[in-house]
Amino acid sequence: MNKLSTMQQDPIAIALSVLKAGGLVGLPTETVYGLAADAKNETAVCKIFTAKGRPADHPLIVHIGREEEVHTWAIDIHPAAFKLMQAFWPGPLTLILPKHPNVSKLITGGQDSIGIRMPRHPLALQLLQAFGSGVVAPSANQFGHISPTRPEDVAEELQERVDFILPGGPTEIGIESTIVDARKPPFTLLRQGMITPRMLAEVLGEEVQLKARASKLRVSGNLPSHYAPYTPLVLLTTAELEAFIKAPLKAAAIILSYSKIELPPSFRPIAMPKSPEAYAHELYARLRQADHEQAELILVEQPPSGGLWEAIHDRLQRAAAKN
Ligand code: TXA
Ligand code: MG
Repeated sequence: MNKLSTMQQDPIAIALSVLKAGGLVGLPTETVYGLAADAKNETAVCKIFTAKGRPADHPLIVHIGREEEVHTWAIDIHPAAFKLMQAFWPGPLTLILPKHPNVSKLITGGQDSIGIRMPRHPLALQLLQAFGSGVVAPSANQFGHISPTRPEDVAEELQERVDFILPGGPTEIGIESTIVDARKPPFTLLRQGMITPRMLAEVLGEEVQLKARASKLRVSGNLPSHYAPYTPLVLLTTAELEAFIKAPLKAAAIILSYSKIELPPSFRPIAMPKSPEAYAHELYARLRQADHEQAELILVEQPPSGGLWEAIHDRLQRAAAKN
């Protein structure tokens, strides 16, 4: 079957039958596309690790369509964690909670904690509510590579290893969810996202800790190299970029810049948006484009810092860490 074609049958109905049969579905969420499987089917969960080339000790996020389902997957939930659910679900926030004893450790990478979120993409919610149970969904990319933000990216990453891609258009946000360890206060930020520490603190009435001092939880986004294109990527300040441009050119470089820098014709420029929301929305698609154009080098002008930009910095630093 052509995974991307528009079909006679309702795409939600197809996705539902694939999940029920233990298959893998490309799932649009508001952050990035996920690779979804029935969280209660161990054989299906195993297929995810194989399809992504992901080590078995890296835990998966369970996605649910209704808040009350959280009790199927987690126990002893702290009241402040409920406050976060009420404020940000459905939306780009993953909570790490104490795992329910009935949940397979295959999902949690052997740990006693579990990551749970309720996405807000309408198709994801529709599918999850129709399914009535949780699905595990890591980002639908090869381990360590750029997360997919469009259906065609999922097809490119996974080819025949995904059974059906639910066509949900380009994702709204473009980078992965914020992850908070919400087992006991003070809560800890494990991965930055478009829900910022300040937004969390406003709801909690206290600051969240930053992950530097955090626990030994395994978060693959915590590996120094992650979210990386195949082409080497270098992050430069605006001044460094200007100096580089003036130096005699050695490599066929693609430049992602957000400020108006005059570029000689030998460089291939990609103008990035100036707002953090628009930048995040574009980032992975532009890195993919740079990979396709087979540049020798991707140069990225460091965007501003603070607020929503921090999550973008985090992704760029990890993308650069591969070199
Ligand atoms: O936005 C997102 O979160 C996307 C969409 C598809 O929902 N999903 C996503 O999943 O980014 P993944 O697997 O690519 O990244 C999830 C991160 C991993 O780094 C994983 O280690 C961490 O969440 N994680 C999951 N369960 C955890 C747990 N119990 N303890 C600590 N970290 C956990
Ligand atoms: Mg991922």
